[in-house]
Amino acid sequence: MNFKTTKLNPFGLLIEPINEKTNILDLDIKELREILSNEHLVALRGFTSFASAEEFSEYCEKFGEICLWPFGKVLELVEKENPEDHIFDNSYIPLHWDGMYRKQICETQVFHCVNAPGENNGGGTTFTNTKKILENASATEKEYWGKITCEYSRKMEFYDSKTIAPIIDKHYEKEYSVIRFCEPPNSNDTSFVNHPGFEVKGIPEDEVANFIQNLNQTLYSPQYLYTHQWETGDIVFSDNSTLLHGREPFTKGAPRHLRRIQLLGTPPLNNPHLIYTK
Ligand SMILES: [Fe+2]
Repeated sequence: MNFKTTKLNPFGLLIEPINEKTNILDLDIKELREILSNEHLVALRGFTSFASAEEFSEYCEKFGEICLWPFGKVLELVEKENPEDHIFDNSYIPLHWDGMYRKQICETQVFHCVNAPGENNGGGTTFTNTKKILENASATEKEYWGKITCEYSRKMEFYDSKTIAPIIDKHYEKEYSVIRFCEPPNSNDTSFVNHPGFEVKGIPEDEVANFIQNLNQTLYSPQYLYTHQWETGDIVFSDNSTLLHGREPFTKGAPRHLRRIQLLGTPPLNNPHLIYTK
């Protein structure tokens, strides 16, 4: 590939054009797909790309079927006045995997940064590599996590669902194991809008707080966590099965504007953990 590539820390690959005014269409889709499969995250910076949400979705269509939501194909991630859900607030978003509350789980997320939040305004997107975590975990840790299942429920504008998932699960398409965990926000945090329901099963009640603290410490360890600090025009592809992702809080009123598309697998993956969705 005739572009500048840089390894991101601790995982992922950044691709930048060598010449100015290189269009994203100049990148080979098959090659991009292969890089994503190996690196789990690909960031493109400095390319000429999409002038509209339609152009963005037309491009993503080349990779596969796009997940359809009540709002359409493209989620406009912009802070709202008095949001009914934390997604549209400027708060942090706990680590989670996409599609956990839906009938189908997406294989890949594609983000396009229409407007960066601005320097020192936060709002980075956090990604943690759960494959790497399990490769490095001790047998005792894996045995302990292997006993645990979490129950999640969440009601928001786009769904009202319940999901039960084991902490250690198989990657939806590959042979290795991954972690499925939706981090519970601190229950005392009254500024967090729309707390999901959360219960831990498989261990005694008095071990739950410790389990969450230890797992979070691992998920957020610099050894496994990459935070993408957005620049206007950035495009990021991420592997939804291997990674969990979330968001750093950002300055209220910062001009952060991301667009997000979810790509389904081929064939689309049914959500094995969903109990119900209304
Ligand atoms: Fe998400």
